[in-house]
Amino acid sequence: MSAGRFITLEGVEGAGKSTVARALQAELMRRGLAVLLTREPGGTPVAESLRELLLRHGTEVLTPTAETLLMFAARALHLENAIRPALAAGRWVICDRFTDASYAYQGAGRGIRAALLDQLAEAVHADLWPARTLLLDLPVETGLARANSRAGAPDRFESEQRQFFDRVRAAYLARAALEPQRIRVIDARGPAAQVAAAALAAIADLLPGGSG
Ligand code: TMP
Repeated sequence: MSAGRFITLEGVEGAGKSTVARALQAELMRRGLAVLLTREPGGTPVAESLRELLLRHGTEVLTPTAETLLMFAARALHLENAIRPALAAGRWVICDRFTDASYAYQGAGRGIRAALLDQLAEAVHADLWPARTLLLDLPVETGLARANSRAGAPDRFESEQRQFFDRVRAAYLARAALEPQRIRVIDARGPAAQVAAAALAAIADLLPGGSG
């Protein structure tokens, strides 16, 4: 049994993460690998309940600190009950968003200090970071136009101002520049098949028999 790898997808709204995640899952399964496709916040029943609380427009103010703690609470549950068991069983894990999203959205977006995010990440998963993170990058206006064309009312994050997403995108790109080996920037402006092919190429070295 080859070891499972932990892969995460990131990007602003409308970048096409879930389409790429499904394409990667299909390709890995075609190669005979077992794959858990999951997402954050969410991925377990309790974490999905926290997702609901985080995304809906409630009547109570959800402060940036509360939002951050809930994100990491969901992450701790997800790691313990889904991600770690899957990796231990030799499965690959493809996760739609992870801690890089907390640095981009809660850090750059909401103004939470990096030191707090560092401490929470250390407490929740000091020993486990993704083997590879694919940052699907595109101009904010293109992503928002795609996201707004989807059915349903915009959620609490999708309702943010354009400037919020500009900060999120810039933070993601800055993290990628600091960690170019782990975080690979994928041009997400093109057709889905092209983006999925670029994503697959960016994890090729991790695959059994790959060059890495
Ligand atoms: P999704 O739309 O990609 O499923 O993600 C749900 C929202 O949650 C998205 O707007 C980004 C946000 N989010 C954070 O703000 N911080 C996090 O740590 C994660 C995982 C997601």
